Amino acid sequence: MEFTDSIIARRMKDINGSAIREIFHLLAKPGMISFAGGNPADTALETDVAARLAVKALEKYGTSLIQYGATEGFAPLKESAAQYFRDTAGVPATPDTLLPVQGSSQAFDLILKALIDPGDVVLVESPTFLGALQAIRTYGARIESIPTDEGGVIVDALEEQIKRYHPKMIYVIPTFQNPTGVTLAADRRRPLAQLAAKYGVLLCEDDPYRDLRYEGEPLPSIASYDAEGWVAYMGSFSKIIAPGLRVGAVIANKTLMRKLVIGKQSADVHSPMLNQAIVDGYIREDILMPHIRRILDDYRRQMNAMLDGFKYFPEGTVHTLPQGGLFVWAKLPRGMDALELFPAAVEKNVAYVPGTHFYPDLGHTDTLRLNFSKSTVEEIGRGMKILGEVLGGNGR
Ligand SMILES: Cc1ncc(COP(=O)(O)O)c(C=O)c1O
Repeated sequence: MEFTDSIIARRMKDINGSAIREIFHLLAKPGMISFAGGNPADTALETDVAARLAVKALEKYGTSLIQYGATEGFAPLKESAAQYFRDTAGVPATPDTLLPVQGSSQAFDLILKALIDPGDVVLVESPTFLGALQAIRTYGARIESIPTDEGGVIVDALEEQIKRYHPKMIYVIPTFQNPTGVTLAADRRRPLAQLAAKYGVLLCEDDPYRDLRYEGEPLPSIASYDAEGWVAYMGSFSKIIAPGLRVGAVIANKTLMRKLVIGKQSADVHSPMLNQAIVDGYIREDILMPHIRRILDDYRRQMNAMLDGFKYFPEGTVHTLPQGGLFVWAKLPRGMDALELFPAAVEKNVAYVPGTHFYPDLGHTDTLRLNFSKSTVEEIGRGMKILGEVLGGNGR
């Protein structure tokens, strides 16, 4: 008998793979300049440091690093990461309320697994991170949008949506949002935490870009204003150490934490101990902060080159001016379609992600997301010029 998708579970049937993962296939083409992914620069990944920390950890902790370990995580990392998120984000983390996970992707998956019954509503920014949309859909939740402006989520509008939809969960990327690069204004952070507590809705604060700030002062996390455990904070070391290690952390109240641990038991038993030990070494040996400072200098130059490259785009293009993160978001002038123009850009060896993929209800085909971390300043200049030509710009 032929294997067809009639056997696939209803919840997975309509789930399509991430559009970005599909675009990745195109990037293997020789000479391709990719503004498509969200990867750190290869020069930001330190194989020598990872190797040294791995050897040192294996010598110190022995077989326990490659034996089955605790689902709750590698104890030294629980301590050092809790300290890290207290210092950098003001999150009231302790080893007991922090669970090391395989990237913030797994944090969100475990939270959804713990909270969502089919038909529950999750409120998200629109546009938002594709991976989050995919995960929410997999658990059968209904997605509704939160109105945003240049300061991120609009507080009153969020309250209206909460009253209207009675959501179980709110998903927000407050710092250098993916895909827009927008940061939630300082004076909206406490109100968001208060709304979550007032209405009994779990606010998931996904914050993997927080430390990639090129301008301005860091803002307190939403979780730093959370008094009653209604904010779950998701941190990640993917963008600041290495995504392939798959190490992130979720900080949540004790009741939710217990369910996250149980959910993780059946998902993967535990995150790889060796990878957790490498990240712990980065934090404990004070390698992380100097490393971040170095990559910030590079990424700042790359972002500025990309912003400068908009001079090649058609008159009337508008774009965000992020203070950090890995992305710039653009809206083309009336009538232009970034989805339709995508094959022509790829033909000329430049890739981006059409913005439509980031909207829960698609549409918005005049938008696109551009990543600057994976290309050199020279490639960014060249790629933006080519894109400008594809888009029919006149080289303002
Ligand atoms: C907003 C957001 N959340 C989560 C992730 C996934 O990160 P991780 O590697 O920690 O799973 C990404 C990666 O692009 C992201 O942009």
